[in-house]
Amino acid sequence: ARCYALVPAAGIGERSGAGMPKQYVEIAGRPMLAHTLAALAAVPRIAATLVVLSPADERFEQALPGYGGWVARVGGASRADSVLGGLAELRRRGARDDDWVLVHDAARCLLKPAWVDALIDACEHDAVGGLLAQPIADTLKAGDADGRVTATVDRRDKWAAQTPQMFRLGLVERALAAMGAAATDEASAVEALGFAPRLVRASMANFKVTWPEDFELAARWLHQVGP
Ligand code: C5P
Repeated sequence: ARCYALVPAAGIGERSGAGMPKQYVEIAGRPMLAHTLAALAAVPRIAATLVVLSPADERFEQALPGYGGWVARVGGASRADSVLGGLAELRRRGARDDDWVLVHDAARCLLKPAWVDALIDACEHDAVGGLLAQPIADTLKAGDADGRVTATVDRRDKWAAQTPQMFRLGLVERALAAMGAAATDEASAVEALGFAPRLVRASMANFKVTWPEDFELAARWLHQVGP
């Protein structure tokens, strides 16, 4: 089976406050998406990477001039729709049911090739697949609309789900089609079919650039986190 990467980059990033889709915000002189794609391109075991853009995207060519990888303008209203569009495109380009697809957020631009290798090592002989994740170190609180604590949540078995998330094309496609827009990641859709994806520890540095203050943090970490 081959490994493909699929990068949904069709979101509008409204939480980032950047006034443009956050994947195009420059970090350390390059758009966030360029950092993300460079990390995936540095993993030899990935046969090809497909970027999923919104059909209305007007920035990609300018942001990544001369990009030679696979690009499809098949993004949808939800992340799940964008990924499903990308999976169909991978099939058109020859991917098969039992090939692995590593879905990775455009917004996790601090990705290190070594973490991707660790994920592939842990999952390539697994019946289900898995995802990069980080055990929660903080005490977890549930809060209400007034910003008051309503409960403390037991953190001992909690992990923050990251990406890439690695599943066989046939399984993740069936799972996302069944769960639809309610799926905020691939694993939750696979779990809903009754499977237990493998958790593969990565690093806190594999965080999703989301809030305005995250861009500065990402720029600092780009220089400081080793391979
Ligand atoms: O919104 P969120 O941060 O969860 O998005 C995660 C990833 O999914 C981002 O890379 C974003 O561009 C992508 N996405 C997408 N299509 C959507 C919504 C989000 O490709 N409709």
